[in-house]
Amino acid sequence: MTSLRRTFVATCALAALTVSTATVFAQQAKDVKLGYALAVNSHYGAAAQAWSDSVEKSTNQAFKFKQFPSSALGGERELIEGLQLGTVEAVIVSTGALSNFVPDVGVVDVPFLFRDTAHARAVLDGKFGQDLLTKFRARGLIALAWGEQGFRHLTNNKHAVSKPEDLKGLKIRVTENPVHITAFRTLGASPTPMSWPEVIGALQQGTIDGQENPLSVAVSAKLWQVQKHMTLTSHVYAPVALIVSPGFWNSLNDAQKAAFTEGARAGALASRKFVDDVEKKGVEEMKSHGTQVVTQVDKAAFKTAMAPAYKQYASKFGQKTLDDISNVK
Ligand code: PAF
Repeated sequence: MTSLRRTFVATCALAALTVSTATVFAQQAKDVKLGYALAVNSHYGAAAQAWSDSVEKSTNQAFKFKQFPSSALGGERELIEGLQLGTVEAVIVSTGALSNFVPDVGVVDVPFLFRDTAHARAVLDGKFGQDLLTKFRARGLIALAWGEQGFRHLTNNKHAVSKPEDLKGLKIRVTENPVHITAFRTLGASPTPMSWPEVIGALQQGTIDGQENPLSVAVSAKLWQVQKHMTLTSHVYAPVALIVSPGFWNSLNDAQKAAFTEGARAGALASRKFVDDVEKKGVEEMKSHGTQVVTQVDKAAFKTAMAPAYKQYASKFGQKTLDDISNVK
């Protein structure tokens, strides 16, 4: 064999080996279906991308994430049920529907519980928040990290809201969350629990007057197209949970479990970074599209108006738990 021919044969053999290795590799990558409610260009999309990139890289591409944004797999209740049934491997969800599955989570939805973002992050990253993540297991869910949406604000189509009395009679869509329902009922509004995929249509048709969500959601869902007024009530801090299904989790070895946990933490940080950014420019963006924004409200007046609701929260979650959270510096 001439040396030219030997080189040609060796090159072909190497190419064949490379192709077959790549094929085996591709065949081995395990698909991870990841569902979430909002668009790819949202804080959820940012979290999903960071989670995917981190796991795919640290496991040397042993997993391939397939993202299902914009409620493609259903509302958040369906996503959580999907985890329990094993039809979806991973989700990013708000606490909206979660407390129907993990009742202890409801405490973080208590209005005006967190002073500011730093306080909320300190609680969720501290012992209380990390212990709360472990409580998901008894309910057939493996929660790995707390991400963020920001503080929830009110939007509506009827009139500017600047004081609690302005809420009287407004039909406000709330999440399927008993704590939120109690809060809005106590304020005199008519709270209407509804899954997110139905909200834009309901606002367009006028079957509801308003809704409440953080700026991150208002901007990514372009709520200016369906809402005239916004009030920066900051009534509830909205965390996000990054969760995997127990069946999938149990199929992982220890190193892979660590990769998913690290990846979820990277996803959580990416959501917080996105929220920090949208908090700086979101109000101007809403205004630039014609939304009237009330930026200053007397939060103490809203809190006072909710006094009967706080009695219910204290008996449900325990005054000590509420105080412990408030006292975190
Ligand atoms: O309002 C909700 O249901 C949630 O905040 C949303 C928009 C689905 C994001 O998780």
